[in-house]
Amino acid sequence: MAASHETVLVLDFGGQYNQLIARRVREAGVYCEMLPYTASLERIRSFDPKGIVFTGGPASVLDPGTPQVDPAIYALGIPVLGICYGMQLMARDLGGEVVRAPQREYGRVALSIDRTGRLFGDVVAETEAWMSHTYHVGRLPTGFRSTAASANCPNAAMEDSAHGLYAVQFHPEVLHTPEGTKVLRAFLYDACGLAGDWNMGSYAQEAIEAIRAKVGSRRVLCAMSGGVDSSVAALMVHKAVGRQLVCIFVDHGLLRKDEGDQVEEVFRKQFDMNLIRVDAEARFLSRLAGVTDPETKRKIIGEEFIRVFEEESKKLGTLEVFVQGTIYPDVIESGASQGGAAKIKSHHNVGGLPEKIGFHDIVEPLRMLFKDEVRRLGEELGIPAHIVWRQPFPGPGLAVRIIGDVTREKLDLLREADAIYREEIAKAGLDRAIGQYFAVLTGMRSVGVMGDERTYDYTLALRAVTTTDFMTADWARLPHDLLATVSNRIVNEVGRINRIVYDITSKPPATIEWE
Ligand code: XMP
Repeated sequence: MAASHETVLVLDFGGQYNQLIARRVREAGVYCEMLPYTASLERIRSFDPKGIVFTGGPASVLDPGTPQVDPAIYALGIPVLGICYGMQLMARDLGGEVVRAPQREYGRVALSIDRTGRLFGDVVAETEAWMSHTYHVGRLPTGFRSTAASANCPNAAMEDSAHGLYAVQFHPEVLHTPEGTKVLRAFLYDACGLAGDWNMGSYAQEAIEAIRAKVGSRRVLCAMSGGVDSSVAALMVHKAVGRQLVCIFVDHGLLRKDEGDQVEEVFRKQFDMNLIRVDAEARFLSRLAGVTDPETKRKIIGEEFIRVFEEESKKLGTLEVFVQGTIYPDVIESGASQGGAAKIKSHHNVGGLPEKIGFHDIVEPLRMLFKDEVRRLGEELGIPAHIVWRQPFPGPGLAVRIIGDVTREKLDLLREADAIYREEIAKAGLDRAIGQYFAVLTGMRSVGVMGDERTYDYTLALRAVTTTDFMTADWARLPHDLLATVSNRIVNEVGRINRIVYDITSKPPATIEWE
């Protein structure tokens, strides 16, 4: 597992910003992996990490049974940065005292910095930081000094630089801490002495070689949904083993306008991939006929996908290795899952596919990458921007953007309307600024008037949200002129849609998709 590049480990104590910490480290050009805090010292050592970060977490170090690390970690000679809960843990483990703060701090807080602190050389003396804590370090462990303070938190940062131990009570990883990136970089470059020369190009090279070594001379099968992840995963394997890879692209007929053709064109023509496109629209639509419940739609689409895939793969003889487009957040969430979160929607579209069709081995080329890194990798490999920067699109496709039953007619209306909406957003230069945007064909019909005629047609909803994590989202304040253009064009050009509404709910309480 120890690769040729420098690695930092992020130990996960369950805080909500933890994945962001790992992303920030990688953005600083340092490869990092996230492990649950329960990882053994032996496992930690096997990575030969050049630095370790303890994340925040919801627990209090004062409670019994609270998450711990083996205190021998502090004596490994590897620099450690404790964040929030991680700071309190470090303080307690090394003989300091953690107490309930006189006042809980939550939100942006003014911070006075000691610029002689190793993490703060580049930070302005008076700044702001994002805090979220009820407890804090009351007494520092021997050998530590305080390097930052807020009005209610005298030890907002501490360090024992002789032993490579650093900690901050605030969250340097979030955007609300304007100087946070500098703090993280100082830890990586100064405290850990890292070069920060990890990049997507060298990662791709290394990962492709690893795939080649793993696959050997065996034949490989990939199930492509048409989406970004499975496409980039397939291309990585193609670069590694060429035509030993066969891709089955199950076109369920629920893709956006021209999407299936574009995917086929790029991967077959540009990359000369061994791609079989299965036109399964009729099968999917007949199984979806009359189905209105969102979860039933998802289940049917997932099942049918597997069935079509199974039938097609049987025709190909023995293929021993299977490509899966798992990305890093799935890995982290399954490993560090605390359980108990209520299931709102079942997002795992084709879970269990390789087991069901009895594969011996799988390759997961994106297993270590965050979503935005998958896109960067895709660009690095030469996938055109219009493919790699496509909007996030759910596996069940337009079926969950048509409220009520799904028909070919409704799909065509929605495809046209959605294409106009996306085109206008791109024209306005907003396509990368908005987290996600799409049109929804509501099941509602209402009265309108076109020319002198009464109409009784569909209501289309436009959705646009700003978000970074898709767990929470705010509705995007799109310019009214843009909305007016989109509305006019859709009503005039699509037909059967006579009313357009704009969704002004955030998540929560709404979700991003309507189903
Ligand atoms: P919600 O609607 O839960 O969406 O706020 C959060 C993100 O997940 C996407 N989404 C899905 N993705 N299969 C997927 O692959 C699904 O069934 C599914 N449902 C929602 C949604 O587009 C948004 O990006």
